[in-house]
Amino acid sequence: MKGWVKTVRDHRDFVFVELGDGSCLENLQVVVEADEALREKARSLATGASVAASGAFSPSPAKGQKWELRAKTLELLCPAPEDYPLQKKRHSDEFLRTIAHLRPRTNKYAAVFRVRAALSRAVSDFFAARGFLQVHTPVITASDCEGAGELFRVTTLAPGKDTDPTADFFGRGAYLTVSGQLALEMFACALGDVYTFGPTFRAENSHTARHAAEFWMVEPESAFADASDNMALAEDFLRFLAERALSDCASDLGLFDRFVTPGLITSLEGIAKAGFARVSYTEAVEILKKSGKRFEYPPEWGRDLQTEHERFLTDVHVKGAVIVSDYPKSLKPFYMRVNDDGRTVAAMAVLVPRIGEIIGGSQREERLDTLAARLAETGLSAQDYGWYLDSRRYGSVPHSGFGLGFERLVMLVTGISNIRDVIAYPRTPGAISF
Ligand code: 4AD
Ligand code: MG
Repeated sequence: MKGWVKTVRDHRDFVFVELGDGSCLENLQVVVEADEALREKARSLATGASVAASGAFSPSPAKGQKWELRAKTLELLCPAPEDYPLQKKRHSDEFLRTIAHLRPRTNKYAAVFRVRAALSRAVSDFFAARGFLQVHTPVITASDCEGAGELFRVTTLAPGKDTDPTADFFGRGAYLTVSGQLALEMFACALGDVYTFGPTFRAENSHTARHAAEFWMVEPESAFADASDNMALAEDFLRFLAERALSDCASDLGLFDRFVTPGLITSLEGIAKAGFARVSYTEAVEILKKSGKRFEYPPEWGRDLQTEHERFLTDVHVKGAVIVSDYPKSLKPFYMRVNDDGRTVAAMAVLVPRIGEIIGGSQREERLDTLAARLAETGLSAQDYGWYLDSRRYGSVPHSGFGLGFERLVMLVTGISNIRDVIAYPRTPGAISF
């Protein structure tokens, strides 16, 4: 057994060394009693040191563990001196953020990243079982998918020098992608059901617990699928992920239920089992207005739903997940399909308790003329999006898709309330450690 020392307890005639190797929440208890030289060696081990121990596994008489290792040999691989920062049992999340490179050594963060990996695997399994093909869309792009101008520029021009994009590496402006959607749509209109799963970047200056400048997004896109197919897929997907977390990560979720968010497992079971409520944006605004609750931002048709509104819908009104659909056209990007009323689009968002929006998507505008008009309306050039319009020129079909914020999923599943604590090395405004 190779691992890192968590604690050493000395009982004179025998010494207990708890070793963890990160593979699961539980540590292995190494019992050292063979001879005094070995016991002395065990006593000298410090928390954080790396160790190799060998001996016989035997059923443990102690409570809470099935097995222990009765050490025959014990080898110190590398010591951890007194300045090892994780001496205490519990540290604040804020402190641990300052040592993001060491925090996976703690029980809680090791559990977060095991759950994150399990969810990533579950994403692949879900789509593989349904015949969706994975497409690797580019990270460097020349277009602004969301049209919100929250792009990081990619350049090789020296700072302060020429800022003329035609003199730059690609001969035109280039950016880190905010979403793989536009590139992915072209593949849906060729392969049918596809998805992309990769890092996305937003230079939005939001200082909240749910926004990061670099985050991962899962984006499925389906040809011959309308808004209602899209909502059904989103619901199936999220319920599958909750179910898999419950079955595959039971002991890690137990830790989060005990120490992070009491009631977590019950709330995940709710997501896995209960159907999602559905309301239109217009109905949601009515519900909020009639609630009698005083919101900081009074709800009004045509205004974006704020976090406080989303929280009311999920935590108070529905007490579970809710899908809000058909938002005002003026609030949404050019690619969403315009509804027959002319003032709303076939957008949807899945809202969940504690987090708010976890999924955003829509049926796409497949009618060439309407799409071209929307581009013009939102101030984007038809020339830049000529390639995108091609999919509507040649064999256009109704198609739909959505994006799931992967960190928000990890937050939902672990009960952790700050996005900085579910991503290995968080990037937020004004903060990048290395
Ligand atoms: O609603 P968004 O902006 O949708 C899109 O980007 C679409 N192009 C997706 C699509 O239809 N293929 O983002 C989708 C999700 C949000 O619901 C949220 O969960 C997450 O991505 N998200 C963020 N997560 C962390 N930090 C941020 N700054 C995020 N912005 C969006
Ligand atoms: Mg959104």
